[in-house]
Amino acid sequence: MRLGIVGAGNIAAVMADTVRRMQAAGNMRVTLKGIASRSLEKAERFAAEYEAEKAYGSYEAMMADEDIDFVYIAVPHSHHYETARLALEHGKHVLCEKAFTGNAGQAKALFDLAAKKDLLITEAIWTRYMPSRRLIRMLVESEAIGHVHTVIANLGYPIDHKDRIRLPELCGGALLDLGIYPLNFAEMILGRPDRAQAVCLKNAEGVDIRDQYTLFYDQTGCMAILCADAGSVCDRSGLIFGSQGYIRIENINNPEKIEIYDMQHVLMRTVSCPPNLTGYEYELIETVEAIKAGQRECHSMPHAETLHMMELMDEIRSQMGVVYPDDHLWK
Ligand SMILES: NC(=O)c1ccc[n+]([C@@H]2O[C@H](COP(=O)([O-])OP(=O)(O)OC[C@H]3O[C@@H](n4cnc5c(N)ncnc54)[C@H](OP(=O)(O)O)[C@@H]3O)[C@@H](O)[C@H]2O)c1
Repeated sequence: MRLGIVGAGNIAAVMADTVRRMQAAGNMRVTLKGIASRSLEKAERFAAEYEAEKAYGSYEAMMADEDIDFVYIAVPHSHHYETARLALEHGKHVLCEKAFTGNAGQAKALFDLAAKKDLLITEAIWTRYMPSRRLIRMLVESEAIGHVHTVIANLGYPIDHKDRIRLPELCGGALLDLGIYPLNFAEMILGRPDRAQAVCLKNAEGVDIRDQYTLFYDQTGCMAILCADAGSVCDRSGLIFGSQGYIRIENINNPEKIEIYDMQHVLMRTVSCPPNLTGYEYELIETVEAIKAGQRECHSMPHAETLHMMELMDEIRSQMGVVYPDDHLWK
């Protein structure tokens, strides 16, 4: 299938490299047909570097091209809604970076439009599509550590100087960029919480930079304690505590190693995660297979899950007092 990438930034380059590596490994499911940038010169540089056939000097120009089957949206969160809407209105299937949109109202509007146009749209949250997700679930379900009660996870990188993190008008903050990963990690193990509590420290522009979220599972007596920090190097660990031991995951953002400890804190087993090309190939392959099969969402990240995550993040933002300029339009 012919892919077009929207926005010639950091993650766009990783996705273009993923396509190249897939092809080098003999997986020809996807070809990088085009790259769209607000600057034609930038698009042409990107196309030359990543062997894209076409370069477009506007997002609209790529959407109008019949040679593109589906688009990967790699622009700041603030621009996901408008860009995905443009793609759907031009008949393109959509793989849209996380956070899916700036708020739940926008996500719902995109799902409604995709249904009306009979097109696939899905959230590119890579951890949901990775094989390590099933590995961790199987370990939890096998009761290797007994009954699970508590999940603790963190993610952070020193990126708070970047405009897309720093500014409310780009839907900045730690939550939508980083916090979404520990939240998804907790929900992959414990499911949806009954309630959430969140606190944060903000930057001068009023967005959250250092966050803590607690998810409560009143029905099952479970809890998740999660942290996101846009100013620090965090260890990215995920811990799952059970009645008979605990599991430690190295790097919840791209799991590398899973360790299982017993009641005496003795390491019982180490499970290595399957090697990746970049880790982004899984979402790409599932998207293409789903489109070919005529599905309108991906099994690994159904629309209901994306919408729930956006609603949870709206609630967390409201508790933290973080407001984006467009929020009032989507109430
Ligand atoms: N899945 C992951 O692991 C992962 C990792 C990093 C980021 N992301 C997500 O990917 C998206 C992009 O992140 P990134 O790190 O690639 O960002 P980035 O390097 O800053 O690039 C974003 C691109 O968006 C375009 N853009 C459109 N409107 C813009 C505006 N008003 N201000 C700035 N840029 C604008 C620009 O492309 P043109 O100038 O070419 O038009 C820019 O190069 C975000 O949603 C982020 O959460 C995901």
